[in-house]
Amino acid sequence: MRIIIFGPPGAGKGTQAKMVAEHLGIIHLSTGKMFRDAINQGTELGKLVQSIIDEGQLVPDQTVVDMVEETIASEDYSKGYILDGFPRTVEQAVAFDNMLERRNESIDVFISLHAPDEVLIQRLLSRGEGRSDDTEEKIKTRLEVYKKETAPVMEYYQQAGMFRSVDGTGTVDEIFQRILSALPKK
Ligand code: AP5
Ligand code: MG
Repeated sequence: MRIIIFGPPGAGKGTQAKMVAEHLGIIHLSTGKMFRDAINQGTELGKLVQSIIDEGQLVPDQTVVDMVEETIASEDYSKGYILDGFPRTVEQAVAFDNMLERRNESIDVFISLHAPDEVLIQRLLSRGEGRSDDTEEKIKTRLEVYKKETAPVMEYYQQAGMFRSVDGTGTVDEIFQRILSALPKK
């Protein structure tokens, strides 16, 4: 199964994607985590994206698209995957569709997690993992970037007919059960 999990910063994409991936035996691909790992390892990619991530802005589309294309080409991804944090602009969604078409694949479901801003902000401020973009100021920027550049991706997938909206408030387990119910039966 190929799944996209989508939502604003703090919606619980990472938390839920990990659980869904374990449940279905598929790979969890978080583009944000890939960038943070690259920064920690001091790679060329890490150097390129560090200041962008620190500021809460978006990495250029082509950089992300190339990274995802190279990653999912690996054999491990043939059983399926759950994408967390990608596609994050309509341009990325279009590029991803072209990539899937070349691979003769399609996405089974797009899960959109939603929660009010106060809930998102509270979760991010109490995460405590030392992320450079979890300050009050950078969270505000990330939410603005989400509304302007990322939210339009929802309409793109609504039109494509695989869109599922899931309430992202409540306990982690409650949300997980809602996501499982939203997955296509197969
Ligand atoms: P990314 O890593 O994707 O960050 P994000 O979208 O800002 O989202 P978060 O990871 O902060 O939140 P989440 O939805 O995963 O929630 P989580 O489960 O952690 O991207 C980071 C940066 O990388 C971007 O700003 C950009 O610069 C760059 N980037 C990445 N992808 C890109 C792309 N495609 N294009 C361009 N740039 C890109 O939960 C949050 C917290 O809440 C956690 O502490 C968790 O434990 C807690 N929590 C979760 N669920 C619950 C619950 N139900 N109740 C209480 N607490 C909960
Ligand atoms: Mg995350």
